[in-house]
Amino acid sequence: NVMKNISGLKEMEKQLEHALGVSKAVIVSGDSDQYALVKNEIGLACVREIERCLDAENIIAVTGGSTLASVAAMMHPLKKAHQELLFVSARGGLGEKAENQANTICAKMAEKAEGHYHLLHVPDQLSDESYHSLMEEPSIHRVLQLVHSASIIVHGIGSARTMAIRRHSGEEVLRQVDTEHAVAEAFGYFFDQTGRVIHKVQTIGLQWEDLFGARSVIAVAGGKSKAEAIKAYFKRGPDSVLVTDEGAAQEILKNF
Ligand code: BG6
Repeated sequence: NVMKNISGLKEMEKQLEHALGVSKAVIVSGDSDQYALVKNEIGLACVREIERCLDAENIIAVTGGSTLASVAAMMHPLKKAHQELLFVSARGGLGEKAENQANTICAKMAEKAEGHYHLLHVPDQLSDESYHSLMEEPSIHRVLQLVHSASIIVHGIGSARTMAIRRHSGEEVLRQVDTEHAVAEAFGYFFDQTGRVIHKVQTIGLQWEDLFGARSVIAVAGGKSKAEAIKAYFKRGPDSVLVTDEGAAQEILKNF
């Protein structure tokens, strides 16, 4: 029966790659919306994908979120890690719980992988004025250069409304999410069903263009409730490896 399950998931991975246009899909069994432990399985599968992506030079940029926190929880010394591993936070401090912030996750991942890290010591959402002056800070500039030249980017995907509320976005953003029918959020960008960016947080962290310059992009998101967000994000998303679960995959493939 276990064998049957595995071959079923393999088949589903192929279907998902085709449906979303991603170069690789990895599906773990179960639905993380229902069982919290499934998130750890997603985390572990993601660690394996990071390991596969390692090369001579490895700058690994990571975002925040509870799914990325599970990746950090499951991180371990990486086999190919005789190459230097440098982890960088792709985002500043968000209006999120500390354990879900990119900086916390980045430091923990580096420690468990026996690598180094650089954190982004800035608030995530900035006014025009602070944005420009912070950009001129040499220490911040250095970290940003690392983020923009990351070889591997690991990020989560969330549902637009959930993320807008969780990050305490203002009334105006919430209204925009509703009127422009945003369904997905990733690294501060909000997307509608067609994958169009309808709003972006003014951040000095990871930018949309960075994803197209990276050697590997790994998106990590599971749970039936994220099916719509995952589908929308990949309408125009960069070539990626998607690590997800059966709950999300089944729902995405239902109407395909
Ligand atoms: C955020 C990431 O911190 O986490 C987003 O920047 C992502 O890209 C979100 O949408 C997902 O959070 P979670 O808790 O659902 O993994």
